[in-house]
Amino acid sequence: MKTIAVIGTGTMGRGIAQVAALAGYEVVLYDVFEPALNTAVTLIEVSLDKGVMRGKLDPQEANLAKNRFHITHSLDDAARADLVIEAVPEDLKLKHDLFARLDAVAPRHTILASNTSSLSINSLAGSTHRGDRFLGMHFFNPPHLMQLVEIITCDDTSAATVELAQSFVEQLGKTAVFCKDTPAFIVNRVARPFYGEAFRMLGEGVADPATLDRLIKSVGFRMGPFELIDLIGCDINLAVTQSVYDAYFHDPKYRPHPIQRRMVESGRLGRKTGRGFYPYPE
Ligand SMILES: NC(=O)c1ccc[n+]([C@@H]2O[C@H](COP(=O)([O-])OP(=O)(O)OC[C@H]3O[C@@H](n4cnc5c(N)ncnc54)[C@H](O)[C@@H]3O)[C@@H](O)[C@H]2O)c1
Repeated sequence: MKTIAVIGTGTMGRGIAQVAALAGYEVVLYDVFEPALNTAVTLIEVSLDKGVMRGKLDPQEANLAKNRFHITHSLDDAARADLVIEAVPEDLKLKHDLFARLDAVAPRHTILASNTSSLSINSLAGSTHRGDRFLGMHFFNPPHLMQLVEIITCDDTSAATVELAQSFVEQLGKTAVFCKDTPAFIVNRVARPFYGEAFRMLGEGVADPATLDRLIKSVGFRMGPFELIDLIGCDINLAVTQSVYDAYFHDPKYRPHPIQRRMVESGRLGRKTGRGFYPYPE
């Protein structure tokens, strides 16, 4: 694989593009919202420059990576990559439509991958005619720091596709972990009570978000649930919670909390909108 395409250049798409370019891949970027493309390139460059300033990146490597990005305004162009990674919002219909369009124009050898946090890979693969070249490739936020990538197969994913995906992940310097197509896979499934219990305590007035975050960090977590939700995006967090709740036929232990919806409806999505559970004035 030489060229990868990233569809959706928001929080995750940008990060995946950055690590792929640093690993030597040519990276095609596509977003339906065109201003997001230029913003993505600027933010990736800022992130690479920060890496250089902190002594974590070689300046020459960073410059080479900057020249590996190719913006396109055509989905057909993006579909010509060897591997297409989708990172659009967590919405089943949106992803179904996108994969159906990609499948119709992508060459036969192209592998289609979804960065979904919780939607079924079999369901997404069903909108294409290439189940053998379809899989989930779930990166974590922020992709340039997080080591793990979940590789989720659907019933038809071929062994050759899994092998290519694994070697891609390893080429990025990351660790692949293999998952079955179960709701929220491994990490997000395990993480549900981490958020759910915190929301219940907040809703019952046990403590405010800062206190709950502080308490949870005091037992060894790197981030508290509310800081983490602000990083992830309240909208993404709600969509994932809702999708796990639906996937388990409304098992009450996965039920979303009204506070999650209130945050989304009020536009307080976290870092990306400048305010979530905490303010982000810059
Ligand atoms: N945010 C996280 O912490 C996180 C972590 C792991 C996985 N994910 C998953 O990654 C995916 C993307 O999440 P995100 O946080 O990057 O979302 P985001 O909202 O930050 O970015 C989504 C981008 O997709 C673009 N988009 C929307 N519709 C599109 C379309 N039809 N074609 C092309 N681009 C389109 C938007 O303009 C936006 O730039 C979701 O499936 C999410 O569950 C998110």
